[in-house]
This record gives sequence, C-alpha cells and structure tokens, in this order.
Amino acid sequence: MIDKLQSFYGFTRMPFGRDLAPGMLHRHTSHAEAVARITWCVDQHTLGVITGEVGAGKTVAVRAVLSTLDTSRHSVIYLPNPAVGARGIHHAIVTALGGVPRFHHATLIPQATDALAIEYAERGRVPILVIDEAHLLDHTQLEGIRMLTNHDLDSRSPFACLLVGPPTLRRKIKLGVLAALDQRIALRYTLPAMTAEETASYIRHHLTLAGRSDTLFSDDAAALIHQTSRGYPRAVNNLALQALIAAFATNKSIVDESSARTAITEVTSE
Ligand SMILES: Nc1ncnc2c1ncn2[C@@H]1O[C@H](COP(=O)(O)OP(=O)(O)O)[C@@H](O)[C@H]1O
Ligand SMILES: [Mg+2]
Repeated sequence: MIDKLQSFYGFTRMPFGRDLAPGMLHRHTSHAEAVARITWCVDQHTLGVITGEVGAGKTVAVRAVLSTLDTSRHSVIYLPNPAVGARGIHHAIVTALGGVPRFHHATLIPQATDALAIEYAERGRVPILVIDEAHLLDHTQLEGIRMLTNHDLDSRSPFACLLVGPPTLRRKIKLGVLAALDQRIALRYTLPAMTAEETASYIRHHLTLAGRSDTLFSDDAAALIHQTSRGYPRAVNNLALQALIAAFATNKSIVDESSARTAITEVTSE
C-alpha cells in the first residue's frame, strides 16, 4: 500500500518519517532556541534542564547539537533512559570514558568524578553527559548527579550535563532535598509548541524532503492538523500521515480538510 501511495503522490521517500538527518530538520523557533541554549550549556560546561511535552522535539534538538560537536574536543555520554539503577549512571560515565568501573558503588562514584575531570584536564575533551527521560531518575540518581556537579566553586566544571524530560521533571528537581541540585541549574528551557504558521511550514518541509514542493495539503487541512496536534511535531507527523492515507484511499490528489478530519477521527478514537 505504501508503495502505491508513494508512486500516486510522486514521493521519492515517505514523508513524516522519524529518521531525519540532523541537516534536514525543520528550524522552527522552539527548535532553534533549544539548539542555541543546549549549545551554550555545552560551551559553558554547565548544568541545563530541557523540558517540553511529549513529542515536542527535545531529543531531536539534543541530537542535532551533539551531531555538530567536534569529536576530538568532546566526549558524549548519552543515556536514552535512566532506568539503569543507582550504579548505572556512574558506570556509564566510566565506561564511556574508557575506564573499567569499580564494583563497589562507594568507590565507583569518585571514579566517575575523576574520569570526568581527567577527560577534560588530560585529554582536552569536554565530557557531555546527557540524560534523556530524566523524569525517570530516582532520588538516589539525582543525588548522584548533584554530587558529580559538586566541584569547587571557583574552579570551572570539567563537563556539561543536560537533563531532558517532560514538564514534570522541573517540579521533581525542585522538591526539598534536591534544592542543592536546583541551585546549580544554569539553564532551563521549555520547548514551546509550533505556531500555526510553523506547523504549516513544518508539513511543507516534510513534503519537500519527500520530493513534493508544490501544494499537497490544503490550508484548512494544515490548520486542522495544527489545532489537533497543538503544534507538537510528533503529533503533526502522525496526523499528517493518516490524512495522507485517507486522501489516498479516496483517490484525492490534494489532502483536504475532509481527509484531515477522517484522520483525526481515526487517531483520536483509538
Ligand atoms: N526540528 C524538527 N524537524 C523535523 N522533525 C522534527 C523536529 N523536531 C521534532 N521532529 C519530529 O518529531 C518527533 C518527536 O520529536 P522528539 O525529539 O523525539 O520529541 P521529544 O523528545 O520531545 O518527545 C521526531 O521523531 C521527529 O520526527
Ligand atoms: Mg525524547
């Protein structure tokens, strides 16, 4: 079916896919601002918290920045999911920096701290620790991160740390005992949704990448998709794809409002 749809609309590849190369991303405001702030955080070796609704484009923005880093001057430690236990984060740091993690947690913590410092001081590479889905961090893990960022006040941190997650992450870090971690956060950014104009441009961007730079989605179809997705890229992708399939099923050369409405009924009634 996908093959037929692809040739029916003259696509060179399927639009609205997830696997866009960093250079192909759509540069709407929230994406550009997130990228600028994450880059600042990396340059400053500081602690940043990036939040946003599910599907807002957080992981995409972080990956876009990481892909631009000079690998001879940075060492990226990316944890897609912190469900790795209390030892997990320190273990990952030591391993990523080429060490053999010590068995006992009490000695693993200073080993990770040292590994970060040595990577910077002796190898001239700034470690970038990124923890995605950071709202899943438990208290012990957050406390562990606080300890990692606990270097002398007057010396520069040897590494940058980014905690990425949904809006609940900010509240979690604010809770009582973690105030000490909260105070170290130099950057907080919440990715807003796209505006209606940005959503329309986002849809056109994906279609252009797929080989169709002429109008394929009507303005009211794009407006309806924007309204239903609230301007969050992942939801836009899902709805736009379903609208396209609905249009194809009825042999329409344009994805109009009624195709979008069919898609919305299908997606939201699941
Ligand atoms: N700037 C962008 N350009 C193109 N597609 C994007 C962009 N931002 C997000 N997307 C799309 O939206 C999806 C969700 O983004 P993602 O970063 O995974 O969301 P989050 O991490 O906030 O839940 C991605 O898989 C991608 O397809
Ligand atoms: Mg994500």
